[in-house]
Amino acid sequence: MAIEIVQPSVGLSNIAISETHGENSPYFAGWKAYDENPYHEKYNPSGVIQMGLAENQVSFDLIEGYLETNQEAVSWGKNVSGFRENALFQDYHGLINFRKAMASFMEEVRGGKAKFDPERVVLTAGATAANELLTFILANRGDALLVPTPYYPGFDRDLRWRTGVEIVPIHCESSNNFQITPEALESAYDHATSMNMKVRGILITNPSNPLGATIQRKVLEEILDFVTRKNIHLISDEIYSGSVFHSDEFMSIAEILESRNYKEAERCHIVYSLSKDLGLPGFRVGTVYSYNNQVVTTARRMSSFTLISSQTQFLLASMLSNKEFVQTYIKINRERLRKRYDMIVEGLKKAGIECLKGNAGLFCWMNLGPYLKDDTKESEIEIWKTIMEEVKLNISPGSSCRCSEAGWFRVCFANMSEETLEVALRRLREFMDRRQDERILHV
Ligand SMILES: Cc1ncc(COP(=O)(O)O)c(C=O)c1O
Repeated sequence: MAIEIVQPSVGLSNIAISETHGENSPYFAGWKAYDENPYHEKYNPSGVIQMGLAENQVSFDLIEGYLETNQEAVSWGKNVSGFRENALFQDYHGLINFRKAMASFMEEVRGGKAKFDPERVVLTAGATAANELLTFILANRGDALLVPTPYYPGFDRDLRWRTGVEIVPIHCESSNNFQITPEALESAYDHATSMNMKVRGILITNPSNPLGATIQRKVLEEILDFVTRKNIHLISDEIYSGSVFHSDEFMSIAEILESRNYKEAERCHIVYSLSKDLGLPGFRVGTVYSYNNQVVTTARRMSSFTLISSQTQFLLASMLSNKEFVQTYIKINRERLRKRYDMIVEGLKKAGIECLKGNAGLFCWMNLGPYLKDDTKESEIEIWKTIMEEVKLNISPGSSCRCSEAGWFRVCFANMSEETLEVALRRLREFMDRRQDERILHV
């Protein structure tokens, strides 16, 4: 039973009472609605289907299969000294075998086209911690990071809340498939400086969340030239780099730096985690990979606040250093995600809904713009509420990703079974049909 404690009005810190955590957005409200009435095929078939969670559950069987046949990865067996060593281990460098395995996994997901040095791998509890840690290192309170919109709603918390750093949007538009242009970069930079903010860097997500699309080489080159010209940093959050449907459609910033002989590389930092590509967000495994020696040293020190348990490192070191498993996993996982993507795009098309052409990720970027009452954020939220309350689907409105155009939604497809996805698509189709019928009736 909960213990009720009277709460007197004792003060808390400015950070604790600030609203910059961003949790008051429909993105998180939707999760609450799902938690209160979760869909279950048998026990709650009219419940809310969670399509607002970028979780990868399509390849669990492969990981479970590996663990079953490689028991030594999960148990200490007779190796008592191994247990004791790991129980006591708390060095913030992490287990060297795990850092090697992580570097090698990061190479594998990029099809061997980029190299990673284990000495530059700083371990963190997920990409959330990695992004915050980098922000703490690169910027001061009140400084700005430029972030292309639409962006992952968690960035408001990760980059701003505790650091006091401001996010200044680089506005991207549907007219060119939300690509980042030199004009948009320049305009965001000028906007920040006109507000007396010091711009410290740009943070891109490649492949993008929520667009589900990779950034083209030409655009990456332009961004690199821009950060060099302005003498600022570039953070490339590549958390979905192994979830690209065709491996040759992704280019990591690491590849470009290599092709430039690492010139100006010291301003570049990659964020990665196993939450998406391996579907292990609960394990809290992430990394800052920086080409800047001072950033590596400081990030390691700071990672003391956000270490990965040695037991988790031990388990994953064994799994990720098994090349055969890793290559098979990446290949099959890609195929399954692509199949899911095709399935959702096809299902939405049948419902009369178009999506941005994607090639990566665990979601698609769906356009309900033509169905809004008018071209406003209020209309977007109105249709979002109807879909939540009537259709019982939790999707994420573009406004929660700071999209500058109304009517776009992120719809996740990899956190459920194919059967559940079919139910969700059927519900959406019926909803669109009902709306169409009502429209005809009112003409
Ligand atoms: C772009 C991006 N960065 C970071 C994160 C946080 O990931 P993690 O679970 O590794 O903290 C997410 C999760 O959705 C994400 O989409």
